[in-house]
Order: sequence, then structure tokens, then C-alpha cells
Amino acid sequence: MHVSVIGCGYLGAVHAASMAKLGHTVVGVDVDAAKVALLASGTAPFYEPGLPELLREVGGDGRLTFGTDMAAVAGAAVHFLCVGTPQKHGEFRADLTHVEDAFAALLPHLRPGDLVVGKSTVPVGTAEALAERLDGTGATLVWNPEFLREGLAVQDTLHPDRLVYGVPTDDDGVPTADGDRAHRVLDEVYAAPLADGTPLVITDYATAQLVKVAANSFLATKISFINAMAELCEATGADVTRLADAIGYDDRIGRRFLNAGLGFGGGCLPKDIRAFMARAGELGVDQALSFLREVDAINMRRRVRMVDLAREVCGGSIVGRRIAVLGAAFKPDSDDIRDSPALSVAAQMQLQGAQVVVTDPQAVENARQAWPGLTFAATAQEAVVGADVVLLATEWQEYRDLDPAAVGALVARRAVLDGRNVLDPRAWRRAGWTYRALGRP
Ligand code: UDX
Repeated sequence: MHVSVIGCGYLGAVHAASMAKLGHTVVGVDVDAAKVALLASGTAPFYEPGLPELLREVGGDGRLTFGTDMAAVAGAAVHFLCVGTPQKHGEFRADLTHVEDAFAALLPHLRPGDLVVGKSTVPVGTAEALAERLDGTGATLVWNPEFLREGLAVQDTLHPDRLVYGVPTDDDGVPTADGDRAHRVLDEVYAAPLADGTPLVITDYATAQLVKVAANSFLATKISFINAMAELCEATGADVTRLADAIGYDDRIGRRFLNAGLGFGGGCLPKDIRAFMARAGELGVDQALSFLREVDAINMRRRVRMVDLAREVCGGSIVGRRIAVLGAAFKPDSDDIRDSPALSVAAQMQLQGAQVVVTDPQAVENARQAWPGLTFAATAQEAVVGADVVLLATEWQEYRDLDPAAVGALVARRAVLDGRNVLDPRAWRRAGWTYRALGRP
């Protein structure tokens, strides 16, 4: 099939390359000329494992092109909307500027029978409003939320754990004739994952939009639940990692997303739960989501607690202390620093008078641009030289694998804060380190 992908960020670039891998002819469109130039030359504009290889693989045969001119979508029958929906400045609501701009630019190029497929995370009600604007064009809107995780984006796109199509429905919630046709077209787009047995949920627009924010809210709640337990563990001398193991053996609970530590960040979970609360307020059901305020508050408290812990191991004050922060990305295998807990803690400590040195295998350049006041080092070995405290803030494999004796030879004082509960406390203590973590004795 011939498809277009509008918006070539973390979601769209991976989606475009993956669609080409599935055998489609793809044109990616983005307003950012620098990003388009990189993609057109087969270079990933951000760090995502597997994406450079995929771009090289599918770029060679001319089935994947990129441009800044929306006219390039002519000839495509399916148009994926993959633009970002960040948090609005100064409020919880989502900023829909990019969705609005992309949709308005696409409209004049649509032909009867085309599908517009929304993948961006939007407040419920957005799809209904966009669908109305397609009246008279003969094109149909489908809402097809995306669940990819950064760091695993290629795998998640090629082998999703489910597909959701929100299609036009009648008053009884039954897909209309256009809805049925849209379903058949998308089945053709996703023929490969469907043939692998990927579960498919066909539903209405509202449900499809809610599925995404509900999923992210559940994940955020799971993380904040275990971080709340970490607070209880800190007050009682219990160990939250053992607690998570023990409750995780219950299939109904499950061990995944029960890793206590610095909590969640990134371009999705924090802004999605806030936009969801804001939307619930507009719909007059704010009470239904008031628990998400607590989820958000627990999450932010972990960052404050980590600064307190640093102060504790420094004997009451971090002023003038040298603190090495390992990790700047919001999670490993990504260079994304949006709402990164690691950088948030690093900046707080710096503001409170510590000399902070941050390192990350991939995110230093992004971090430097956002926080020019911090000091950066290229490697962990460089960052820890002369440190009074070493804080592991993002659990990259190379930080998990650090040898406590070797690191011990470089620091001024052997004090380590394990912000992600991934180091072996016994090994570090045996090597003479003071080991402290969130939710662990
Ligand atoms: C998330 C959703 O997982 C994905 O389905 C959706 O499409 C986009 O948002 P992502 O933002 O890539 O994906 O990151 P995710 O892997 O969910 O991690 C989010 C944050 O939670 C990270 O900061 C991570 O460090 C943190 N986290 C995750 C924990 O603190 N504990 C855990 O147990 C798991």
C-alpha cells in the first residue's frame, strides 16, 4: 500500500520505517527540515535501538522517502497522524497545536476513499471533532492509538501486543459502512502483525482515544503504588524490592512495572495523566481521576526524597559537595530527556549548592542544551573522579555492571545512591561503600 506518515518524531519516524519494513511505500512528512534531511539520508535523528539498521534496510529500495511539503502525500491512501501532543505551558491540558496544524495542512490533499489514521495521544473528543471536518471530503477517520515504548519502539511497532481501531459507529455503537471499510483497509496495512496473531479490538472513537490514556494511567499508577510502598518501607526498615518480588508472583498483580526508585518521567506518562485529569474536569467527572493527582504527587516526591538522601549521606549538607549523576535520559536505551527524573534531581542538587557532574551514554548533548548550567562528563569513569556521592539515576546496563572496587578507586568518598534499585547492595558494601537506595534499608 501507499501510506503517508505526518510527524516524524519518536513515534512517526519509527512508524514510517516500520511501515516500509511491512512492505508499504511510505512518505514521511515533518515541518522540521533538519530532521527530514537526516531521515532522508538514512540517519536516525534520535537514539533508538534498531532504528538506524531499519532505516538502512528499507531506505535502499526507494520505498521510504521524507519531505517537508505536505503535497508529497498525494498518492497515499492512508495517512497516519503521528505528531506530538505536549503539555500546555502553565496548565495540565494537552497542547493540540501540532494536531490542528497537521490536519489542516493535510485536508486539501485528501481524496475520496482516503483514510486518516490518528495515532497521537489526544484528549477524548478530539477524534470526533476531526471526523466532522472530513465531512464532504469522502475520507474517513480512524483512531488507532500507539503503545510503543521508547528503547523498544521498533519491536513494539512491528510486533505490537494489540491493535485498536476506533472507527465511525452508528447510534447503537455498530461500525458504519465507512467504519467497516476502514477496518478492512487497516487490516491490509497491518496484515503482517495480524497474521502473527496480534489481538485486534474494534471500537468507537471515544473508547479508542480513552484506551491509550487509560493504559498509561494504569502504568503510572502501578509505578506510584510501588513507590508509595517504598515510603512505607523506608519508615519500617523493609525492602521494597523483595516486597515487589513477593507481590509480583501473584499473576493478578504481576512483577512488571513494579520497580521502585526515582519514578516515571518521559514525554508520555507525566503529561498524559495530567491531560487526562484536565479532560475529566472538562467532562464534569474530575472526581473519577482525582487519584491521579496522588499518583503524580507520589512520583514527584521520590525526586525530593532523593535529594534528601544525598544530603543525609553528606552529613547534613550538599553545599560544595561533588555529586556524580549517572544517567540523564528518562530511561535507559533512550536519549530522551523530557521530564527526566535524573536531570530533575541533578538540577535540584546543583541549585542547592552541590557541584553536580552528569553523564549518560546517549543523552549528554540533549541534556546540555536543556540544562547548560550543569557540568557534563563523557563517561561514568570521568564523572565519578573526586565524587563525594555517586547517584545512579538511569539504569543503563553499563551502570548496572560497574565494578564497585574500580569506581571506588576514583571517588573521594565511597557513597552510592541507587536511584533505580539495580545495584547489588552487598557487593557495594563489601567494597567499602555506603549504599543507600529508595525503599531499602
Ligand atoms: C510509555 C508506555 O509504556 C507506552 O506504552 C506508551 O506508548 C508511551 O509511554 P515510555 O514513555 O517509552 O512508554 O516509557 P516506559 O517504559 O513506560 O517508562 C516510563 C517511565 O517509568 C520511565 O521513566 C521509567 O524509568 C519509569 N519506570 C518504569 C519506573 O520507574 N518503574 C517501573 O517499574 C517501570
